[in-house]
Amino acid sequence: MYSKKVIEHFKNPHNQGVIKNPDAVGEKGNPICGDVMKIYLKISNKAKNQIEYIEDVKFETLGCAAAIAISSALTDMVKGKSIDEALKITKDQIVKELGGLPAPKIHCSMLGVDALKQAIENYQDKNNE
Ligand code: FES
Repeated sequence: MYSKKVIEHFKNPHNQGVIKNPDAVGEKGNPICGDVMKIYLKISNKAKNQIEYIEDVKFETLGCAAAIAISSALTDMVKGKSIDEALKITKDQIVKELGGLPAPKIHCSMLGVDALKQAIENYQDKNNE
């Protein structure tokens, strides 16, 4: 059974959609189930200490209910965080945030971690050229 939080996020996902002119995009697919998650990031520098942080984030996910709920919760979790903080988010933290996931759905949370990592790597690649 899905937790109440998973059902809420699935029925009313936060941050769903596209960012026009994003600073970075990450996409990850799960070859076994075929689900795909795409994450768009808008990155800003905090005026004071020039820390790069995630100003805005959106997602497009073609996937199972857990994948949608994970995308919604993860994008909430990373908004306003520094890039370093966002990179430290683990699948266990996402699962906890969702009040747990049924065992066969735990792997879906990896899709979120990997898509976010791809997006941040995309940003870092572009800015280290
Ligand atoms: Fe594919 Fe959930 S079954 S991500």
